[in-house]
Amino acid sequence: MTPTGNSPKILVTGGAGFIGSHTVVSLVEAGFEPVIIDDFSNSERSALAGLRAILGRDVTCYAVDCNDAAAMDDIFQKETPLGVIHFAAYKAVGESVAKPLKYYRNNLDPLLLLLELMPKHNVKNLVFSSSCTVYGQPEELPVTEETPRLPAQSPYGNTKSIGEDILRDAVRAQIPVKVMALRYFNPIGAHPSAQIGELPLGVPANLVPFITQTAAGIRSSLTVYGDDYNTPDGTCIRDYIDVMDLADAHVQALRKLNEDTTEASYDVINIGTGRGETVLSVIKTFEEATDVKVNYVIGPRRPGDVEQVYADVSKANNVLGWTARRSLAESLRDAWQWQQKISL
Ligand code: UD1
Repeated sequence: MTPTGNSPKILVTGGAGFIGSHTVVSLVEAGFEPVIIDDFSNSERSALAGLRAILGRDVTCYAVDCNDAAAMDDIFQKETPLGVIHFAAYKAVGESVAKPLKYYRNNLDPLLLLLELMPKHNVKNLVFSSSCTVYGQPEELPVTEETPRLPAQSPYGNTKSIGEDILRDAVRAQIPVKVMALRYFNPIGAHPSAQIGELPLGVPANLVPFITQTAAGIRSSLTVYGDDYNTPDGTCIRDYIDVMDLADAHVQALRKLNEDTTEASYDVINIGTGRGETVLSVIKTFEEATDVKVNYVIGPRRPGDVEQVYADVSKANNVLGWTARRSLAESLRDAWQWQQKISL
């Protein structure tokens, strides 16, 4: 596969990361030409090799920090993109509590810069990575986009809420950008080729990488954080969305933004499956899907965890014409294949 030369270019900040790299694949498959901007502070260059293996060619990549105004200006000038998908951000909840300024600086400054550079270079379409973390523990489930946001539990979560506010206010002020903030639920899985996937640094905080590392023998056992919640089996409920489905949602969001003829617009959309799964059901589904046992113990609750959250996905269906297609078992099988590849 070679770049056609006239495929519309899309800047993908954080394009070497977990969700970014899978979105790069979806963009190419949809006829766009992704241009990665990534400083590799929380990603690996091996993602580029994985992309090459999947796509059969290189994707343009700038090893640039999104805070570097001059370098970013040059990229906009050179690439004349049709739109931007802004993934680049730090995402470790615990670290954000210890180092809040690092998170506010890194997660918000580049967003402000994009909102200056996009009008300057006449780029109108922006997809922003937000998170279901903005809902906290909602009173009613499933959560719709109208569900009120709650005060963030961490500086990381706050950067997502503030990021949404910045975008909403910019659009209210008629800064000429069209924005979709996608509120991701819990992204899991990997490309089925096992060429790209999640690369957690150090001990994983998220459930699925911890499961796959335990299954691979890298961790001796998984601790299930609490079994005394008010749920069918006592463990927390989340909405686990396959990263390939999530990637496709970005392509749909870009298409919709591009069709929108207004000068400035802002919308938020939940991206999940609409299904809630308990921690124990994820473990069980993993064991059934892979035929590998996961050694686990029940431990105390993790501070800051919400009991249950899952998405109402009607808006994603109606506005984007998008729906999650992959099953939990498929996602976990892909995550396991990827784990086996990186454990070699
Ligand atoms: C976490 C973040 C959230 C962020 C999201 C990004 C916290 C409190 N929240 O969400 O802000 O947007 O990641 O992916 O960190 N679990 C275990 N044992 C483990 C790990 C997790 O039982 O070793 C449980 C958790 O208690 C939770 C579920 O698995 O019920 C999912 O946890 P995780 O993958 O960390 O995601 P979230 O907490 O939903």
